[in-house]
Amino acid sequence: MATIPTEPRGGRLTDGPHGRSAADAVRVEPLPRHVAIIMDGNGRWAQQRGLPRIEGHRQGVTSVRRITEHCVRLGIEQLTLYCLSSENWRRPASELGFLMQLLGHYMVEEQNLLMRQRVKVAIIGRRDGLPPETVADVDQTVERCAANDGMRLCLAVNYGSRAEIVEAARRLAREAVAGRIDPEAIDEQSFADRLDTAGMPDPDLLIRTAGEMRVSNFLLWQISYAELWVTPVAWPDFTESHLDEALAAYAQRDRRFGGIGRP
Ligand code: IPE
Ligand code: IPE
Ligand code: MG
Repeated sequence: MATIPTEPRGGRLTDGPHGRSAADAVRVEPLPRHVAIIMDGNGRWAQQRGLPRIEGHRQGVTSVRRITEHCVRLGIEQLTLYCLSSENWRRPASELGFLMQLLGHYMVEEQNLLMRQRVKVAIIGRRDGLPPETVADVDQTVERCAANDGMRLCLAVNYGSRAEIVEAARRLAREAVAGRIDPEAIDEQSFADRLDTAGMPDPDLLIRTAGEMRVSNFLLWQISYAELWVTPVAWPDFTESHLDEALAAYAQRDRRFGGIGRP
């Protein structure tokens, strides 16, 4: 079957699915089930303040915490954050080293908060190339949060959508050669089931901070029908109210999925 997203659910803010008070949450409906964010502009944020780029990444972690908490409060089912692309290896080794360290620290430091918020953590992207200690911190956090029943926080680390698609094709080819799948039986669902995001809903809303009008190899298959929202605000300055603004814009969209839309 086609992987067109189901209608987003609305009216979930007064009694959030995770039993949390929604007192601070702005009521917007329908609410996206899945929000994906290209967290961009950390480097520019720092440079505009005369700071090294890494300070922008450090500040960006504060936004991650803030936005994760807000999504939990709102009752969003999944938040996917683009943390490191497979193309980001083109950056200086010092910046990459800092990013790896930051990711490892975030994973460890955030665990108690994620547990309290009943967040389960998922990782998409390639593990190879990441320092073993970062992988260990990531694995430990994923494992500790595995039984949580709240929002899924999916972190795209060393992620590239084209590579993910090629890998899915390779998996299907192997299965076909082994006689476990009939090539004629391959459909959109069997393809989606072999992506890193297997079992996750497609993003309903894709947000990009810092103004670039491109998707930079992020979830190319999965965003087929996502609503796009780009803000000039750099990620370290992105607050709950910016997210509310995006959600309000999303609620006004007429998602037609190729049909003729609202009467
Ligand atoms: C996004 O901020 C974070 C990562 C890609 C890791 P950037 O570091 O790309 O910031 P700009 O785009 O250079 O300002
Ligand atoms: C996309 O941002 C990757 C992440 C946010 C992790 P980039 O800064 O790498 O994207 P480009 O280079 O401007 O396309
Ligand atoms: Mg950038």
